[in-house]
Amino acid sequence: MSVNVESAHDDAATIDVRPLSETIGAEIRDVDLSTELAPSTLDAVHRAWLDHSVVVLRNQHLEDADLVRFSKHFGELDFGPNMAWQPESDREHPEVFVISNVLENGKPIGFLGDTEVDWHTDLCHTVLPPKASTLHAREIPSDGSGNTGYMNMYALLEALPDDLRRRVDGLQLKHEDAHTLQGEVRFGLSEADLTDLENAPGPVHPLVRTHPETGRKCLYLGRQWNGEHRATFVMGMTRADSDALLDEIWAIARREESVWYHKWQVGDFVMWDNRCVMHRRGPFSSAMRRIMHRTQIRDTEKPV
Ligand SMILES: [Fe+2]
Repeated sequence: MSVNVESAHDDAATIDVRPLSETIGAEIRDVDLSTELAPSTLDAVHRAWLDHSVVVLRNQHLEDADLVRFSKHFGELDFGPNMAWQPESDREHPEVFVISNVLENGKPIGFLGDTEVDWHTDLCHTVLPPKASTLHAREIPSDGSGNTGYMNMYALLEALPDDLRRRVDGLQLKHEDAHTLQGEVRFGLSEADLTDLENAPGPVHPLVRTHPETGRKCLYLGRQWNGEHRATFVMGMTRADSDALLDEIWAIARREESVWYHKWQVGDFVMWDNRCVMHRRGPFSSAMRRIMHRTQIRDTEKPV
């Protein structure tokens, strides 16, 4: 499918956009992110990203400077976390997060290791979660493991039965922030009292949000670990009612009817829309090297 975009720059760019599934994701061909792109091409990429929520560009040979330059077209970038042993001055591009299981001299070069990472939206436990995340594949397991699933949260909302959809409208969800995606207590924080999530530290976001650019409504569920929604709570409900409601929604989410899995190749660049997408990563063998470089694009407004 070709998308013709009338840009604000008086010219139109045609890029080759091919949907990767019926529900989410598209591959953009014949765009080289290592070059400075014309404004009209950037507009077309932006349009494809809004339309498909996840875009994939294969065979991209990107230095960190290229990754940062392209990402900055979509907004300001967060700085990646520093490895505890790594001097800040060692980082030429602090906007780049290294996601890897590789050890060098016995020390990890990046975050997340080789474990499975359950369904989540990046940094939903912060007041202003990023609007987008990108990944560039430097090394991937040769056996095809460690794929990333993407879930269309517009489609998930539409998939709810009418009664359930009516019940979720207007609800607010607490996103407890004391735990990592693996359910570990974050450094410097204390164990939140999981029997009182309403008063646990963390922001409150709407369970159904309106995407600020597309104007479409989608579910904003946050995250789970080990298949449990222990980090979220429906404000104003009893714990039992909140758990029961979230159980209903997650049971539908876990049918994975609005999901597509990206099978990584070296050189793949993927950018997803954190406002309307959840993602998860499958496990892979610790004997396999996986190195991804990532950026995180700030949003300018809270979920509403
Ligand atoms: Fe993530």
